[in-house]
Amino acid sequence: MNAIVVYESVWGNTAAVARAIAEGMGPDARAMSTAEATPDVVAEATMIVAGAPIFGFQLPTEGSRKQIGADPKHTGHPPDLSHPSMRSWLERLPAGHGLGAGFETRIWWSPGSSAKKIAKLLGEAGYQRVAEPERFIVEGTYGPLKEGELERARTWGQTLVRKASGAPLG
Ligand SMILES: Cc1cc2nc3c(=O)[nH]c(=O)nc-3n(C[C@H](O)[C@H](O)[C@H](O)COP(=O)(O)O)c2cc1C
Repeated sequence: MNAIVVYESVWGNTAAVARAIAEGMGPDARAMSTAEATPDVVAEATMIVAGAPIFGFQLPTEGSRKQIGADPKHTGHPPDLSHPSMRSWLERLPAGHGLGAGFETRIWWSPGSSAKKIAKLLGEAGYQRVAEPERFIVEGTYGPLKEGELERARTWGQTLVRKASGAPLG
């Protein structure tokens, strides 16, 4: 298995979850941003796990990212918009035959989902769903992650590997 855990992360929460998932998956998995997951890297991956935050009740759009970049209210939490949105990365994703799974970071009570949209777009690119979309919870608008979420992410990573290899879940 050669797995990549690709993230869009403006305030670092999704990146931290991605790193924990990759850790749980083991040495054959690497976490990376949408900028680092180039077509060459993608072509060699047998599993793509992709994650993003929810902004405005959905997978971030170019519009929501532009608004975030222009909004002075984020002064205390400067946004990192240096890597492309997950939405645009998925729109450019070449067709593949590997396994796929989607996750999101979010506030617990919010409607909407990024992970479901990611899973749908991975499926449309030919990636076979290895697990249902997963959610990881932050405590406030900018984070931090709720206690225990990184541990849960590591465990989810282990589960993905077991599911991919067809081993019984324990
Ligand atoms: C401008 C803004 C809009 C947000 N909108 C939502 C939302 O609609 N639903 C939700 O669950 N969380 C929302 N959040 C919380 C983020 O999804 C959460 O902080 C996420 O972990 C950020 O991921 P990142 O740190 O990887 O960028 C919002 C946060 C910000 C700053």
